[in-house]
Amino acid sequence: MLKKLKVINFIMSESKQRLDYKNKTVLAPMVRVGTLPMRLLALDYGADIVYSEELIDWKFLRSIRRVNDVLGTVDFVDPADGTVVFRTCPREKDRVVVQLGTCDPQRALKVAKMVENDVAAIDINMGCPKEFSLKGGMGAALLKDSDKACEILTTLIKNIKIPVTCKIRIFPDLDETIALVKKFANTGISAIGVHGRTIQERPQHPNRVEMIKEIAKSLDIPVIANGGSREIEKFKDIGKFREATGCNSVMIARAAQWNCSIFRKEGLLPIDDVIKAYLKYSVDYDNSPSNAKYCVQNILRELQETPRGKKFLECQTLEQICEIWDLGDYCHKKQIEYQKNGLQGRREVNPLSQAPESKRRKIEIVLPPDVTELQCAFIRRNFIEDTDLPKSKLLVYTTKNGLPKPKYETIQEDKLFRSIVTVNGKKYSSSFWEKNKKFAEQGAALVCACFLGLIDQNVLVANGSILR
Ligand code: FNR
Repeated sequence: MLKKLKVINFIMSESKQRLDYKNKTVLAPMVRVGTLPMRLLALDYGADIVYSEELIDWKFLRSIRRVNDVLGTVDFVDPADGTVVFRTCPREKDRVVVQLGTCDPQRALKVAKMVENDVAAIDINMGCPKEFSLKGGMGAALLKDSDKACEILTTLIKNIKIPVTCKIRIFPDLDETIALVKKFANTGISAIGVHGRTIQERPQHPNRVEMIKEIAKSLDIPVIANGGSREIEKFKDIGKFREATGCNSVMIARAAQWNCSIFRKEGLLPIDDVIKAYLKYSVDYDNSPSNAKYCVQNILRELQETPRGKKFLECQTLEQICEIWDLGDYCHKKQIEYQKNGLQGRREVNPLSQAPESKRRKIEIVLPPDVTELQCAFIRRNFIEDTDLPKSKLLVYTTKNGLPKPKYETIQEDKLFRSIVTVNGKKYSSSFWEKNKKFAEQGAALVCACFLGLIDQNVLVANGSILR
């Protein structure tokens, strides 16, 4: 019976577009880290296969596929708010694996069908120990419901044309783990990622290298060893991990998150070079400032305490972050180019919601009741010509209508600014705190222009200025 199954599996995998998992170095799935810029950087540095961050099936299902001609990408966009759920591009098509968080075979299949022409493989996350996943029957919960896990895998394998894999954690007991991985392997998966820690264990616990080795010995499919970042400080250590686990493929998470050039055969690059290269991809692929900031923070780590690190932490826009690494002009020009070419603004996470508590409190200041407020960020790249700027528009409006010039008053709290503009006796302000006085005035003018009908509010929503 077992032999028969194996033959069937072989035939099924033969008929698929193949992604070879042998002798590969892999960028592991990492929430928020594994977005397009980091994946491309990993490929540049020598990774063979790159995993997306875990994408939750029902969130993915809300999205629609859009070819983005301006960026040369394929985007899966949530039409409700314009959020890019997943962005990919032809360069990674044969090497990117989409990792799904799921507990439902049919939902997983629907998502897989949506992306199967754009990616190389689908992976099912069976290792996430977070409460959100466990409560939803996803991630490591599937290790304890192996029938459901197998149903998800077989449903995908039968119905999609790209390979299917899964990524697991181990049980404390070797035999139990081997029984589980054999059951999964018999579904016809093309490879299995094994993180050598149990559901309860945290990154500081030792990775069970011997256990991964035994698992690899027991299976005919490629096993991708994972969990070794604590011991991986340079490229050579990847080889050591490969040897110690007896797996010919390895998957790296934290070591790549800290310095993605870990994949370079020629050796690690200084983190400033890595940050620069990462930011360049962030600009090229219109990554959100919040995502770029998070990834750079994870590269900088303790260097966030330095004066430059502190300056970086104050940044709200991609251009401001880029300025620190001498890419401000590059970012500015590229954003204007994209704007001219008709790039739709991506919806931003309000950067202040990620600011330290002390900064967030400032948003609660109370302005006089006669001030009309709207939360509206001034994003410079949304205005190509100087004459398009909100302040310019207000000036033209007041001149044309024989009104006094707009009057600006600015409040400063620590290093953040808000302005109130008075036009025709009425006051307007944006409740979004800006980095400088100039931007704060433009923000207030934007709100005023919006209420006077000089700028369309729908456009502000679409280009990310109005944060809902
Ligand atoms: C992870 N990990 C993870 N695993 C997974 O299957 N899907 C995911 O989305 C994530 N997200 C994630 C985010 C971040 C920031 C980290 C650090 C880790 C776990 C990861 O893929 C890997 O299994 C572990 O980090 C162990 O490998 P390393 O770090 O020792 O190479």
